[in-house]
Amino acid sequence: MTGQPIPVIIDCDTGVDDALALLFAVHHPGLDLRAVTCVAGNTDVDGVVRNTLTVLEQAGAPDIPVARGAERPLIEPVRTAAHVHGQDGMGDLGLPAPTRVPLDVDAVTLLRREILASPRPVTLIPTAPLTNIALLLRTHPEVVRNIERIVFMGGAVATGNATPVAEFNVWHDPEAAAVLLTAGVPITMYGLDVFERVIVPAADVQRLRTSSEPSLRMAGELLAHRDPATSGDPTPTGGLGDAGAVCAVVDPGGITTAHLPVEVSLSPGPTRGQTIVDRRPRPGESEIHEGERELTFVDVALEVDVERYVKLWLSTVEQI
Ligand code: BDR
Ligand code: CA
Repeated sequence: MTGQPIPVIIDCDTGVDDALALLFAVHHPGLDLRAVTCVAGNTDVDGVVRNTLTVLEQAGAPDIPVARGAERPLIEPVRTAAHVHGQDGMGDLGLPAPTRVPLDVDAVTLLRREILASPRPVTLIPTAPLTNIALLLRTHPEVVRNIERIVFMGGAVATGNATPVAEFNVWHDPEAAAVLLTAGVPITMYGLDVFERVIVPAADVQRLRTSSEPSLRMAGELLAHRDPATSGDPTPTGGLGDAGAVCAVVDPGGITTAHLPVEVSLSPGPTRGQTIVDRRPRPGESEIHEGERELTFVDVALEVDVERYVKLWLSTVEQI
């Protein structure tokens, strides 16, 4: 590892795979995790704060500043994902309650403070609905001068999960995602197209689950909770999920991106929350007859080197 660590802030809804992202960020020497901010998503925001503090304590990083953020999306109600993340948002593993409380400042205030205080421009890594980020950009637009880029987990080029076409983080707060796209800084979209492919093999999950190190046992149980297998095999594999977006910050060469126009469908109805990614090689009839519309270009992850990210994540969390 050469050079200085990249200053990063994770905005999350911990969240089984958000926890895997936090574990990685805490332990990777190439990252300087300056703060973690919490938003309602996988579970209610108080649950997200509790889970985040627990994970950081288990990871041996109890001093990283944590703040509570938005308790609901800008317009939509909260619609949690308990069927994926358990009633407590952490797979109902019975993890200990944290011993500390979050900072006495809200997430937007902490984001602003840490971004502007960083000696080097910060990389923001939202792994959750974009409510906090939208509020930040609208309340303190000056922060963009010290944001290097935003690498967010959200959206999908092809198939959604919350709906046939919409990915959960964007669907949960589509207006916030639309605000994010206008941030005016480089943006990488680590969407479902790559997110769902990064799976830790069963033997590795099993090794973690039987580790003598409590935080690795926790990681193993979290991975097992995200077993995507449908084969009925009793030995679980585990999806890295949000952790892949953090891998993409450390090792951008592990994903293949294309610089493409992206917009969020804000219409009511079946497309709401869809990220519409224009992959056409040339303008179509709409542009020919009605003119080009101004669109935001995003680096969209289309391919991922699965083995490379699994190896990166495992070697980082297991070196403790
Ligand atoms: C996203 O939604 C949540 O369930 C995960 O934590 C991830 O951020 C995937 O759609
Ligand atoms: Ca998440």
